[in-house]
Amino acid sequence: MRVVTIEAEDDFDGWRDAVRGLVLDQVPPDQVVWQVGDGAGELFAGQGSSGAAPARAFSVPRPFIDLARNAILHRDRERFALLHTLLVRLRDHLKLLEDQADPLVRRVESFAKAVRRDIHKMRAFVRFREVQDDDGARYVAWFEPEFHIVRANAAFFVDRFASMRWSILTPELSIHWNGKRLSEGPGASKADAPDGDPVEAVWKTYYASIFNPARVKVGAMLKEMPRKYWKNMPETALVPQLIANAQRRESEMVTTAKTKIGGNIEAAWHALREEAMGCTRCHLYKHATQTVFGEGPVDARLVFVGEQPGDQEDLAGKPFIGPAGQMFDRALAEAGVDRARVYVTNAVKHFKYEQRGKRRIHSKPDAGEISACRWWIEQELAIVKPQVTVALGATAARSLFGKVMTISRERGRAHQLPDGGEAWITVHPSFLLRLPDPDARHAEYAKFVADLKAIGKRID
Ligand code: URA
Repeated sequence: MRVVTIEAEDDFDGWRDAVRGLVLDQVPPDQVVWQVGDGAGELFAGQGSSGAAPARAFSVPRPFIDLARNAILHRDRERFALLHTLLVRLRDHLKLLEDQADPLVRRVESFAKAVRRDIHKMRAFVRFREVQDDDGARYVAWFEPEFHIVRANAAFFVDRFASMRWSILTPELSIHWNGKRLSEGPGASKADAPDGDPVEAVWKTYYASIFNPARVKVGAMLKEMPRKYWKNMPETALVPQLIANAQRRESEMVTTAKTKIGGNIEAAWHALREEAMGCTRCHLYKHATQTVFGEGPVDARLVFVGEQPGDQEDLAGKPFIGPAGQMFDRALAEAGVDRARVYVTNAVKHFKYEQRGKRRIHSKPDAGEISACRWWIEQELAIVKPQVTVALGATAARSLFGKVMTISRERGRAHQLPDGGEAWITVHPSFLLRLPDPDARHAEYAKFVADLKAIGKRID
């Protein structure tokens, strides 16, 4: 047995140096014990020696490095050993990471995915409170991450809050930024963080700007923030006041030109997207590569809502770029609607599929999944506030109207959304792609373009 010590739970560089030596010396993963820090009580099967000579090197595919960097931040005690095994197997089988049926690949990917979600959660849910120290204002936040992500996430906060002095306290580690330099301290407890009224006005502004009184659903708003984080969030305290002011704000919203609040809208959209990246509202996030959020100008007059991302969209993280998206682009162009000026999104933000061999076959989202995801589309619409929203197909119509709509009966005319906005319904472009008979496809495509032309005329 070899015992390999790395410095910290998130010490990717230490693990990499160690594993390099082990692989070159052909030490099998089951002959290695990995330990962290001084190691007392921290032994686990597998291993790495931080003393391995960096000069002895071999190349590793980039996707493995990216995967390992995240997976290593997981809490599973076997992660170092599993990554070592994966690396050894990868050397004989360069395409191993593409094999989604391989149990080891799936396990390590599930570590990396859970870590990515935790990183996003920290970005979305950390809230600073102001305290005064000898040098003036310092902003302090408390956060409880699931994994060892704090160091890996520090650069994000330095970037975002470069001109503030801040500290983020977590149970295992605290990080501090003095405006110039990042430093670390020991873990803290919640009692060490300031309590009381947070002064994070930016967050309050953000929250108020996405709060649409016409869609007051307090329960849903609170449900969306994982319960664990509510207590850290200033905006939950805003809700009663927002409701009280709802009527007044509603009429103000009608008269306020979108351009006046353009800056806030952009910020609100980015913050919402960031939150959606960590969405776990239903089980679909578990197998998808990532959340595929909407795209387009945030002040678009026209919003198109599809069903869910497909295989290509899931990999690229962008809606409507695969075959259905290409047909949609063509039809929009023929209808004289400029795609660059429309906002395109989906009713469901994660790809749902069945694995058949190497292929991932689209699987329709069910009513529970559509309803779990409705919160996101409601927030997107509250930010973009389009003049017209278009449902592409039955799933989108169900999401927007909250009930089953028959496309053939409802297409070709304006409808009213539950919040009063104008909506149209038409077919989904992939319906056209699936029609086997070329004449039928041609005729249906022409009807689709005609719908888009009629919709385009509704826009000022
Ligand atoms: N189909 C959809 O509904 N949305 C996409 O993003 C791609 C295909």
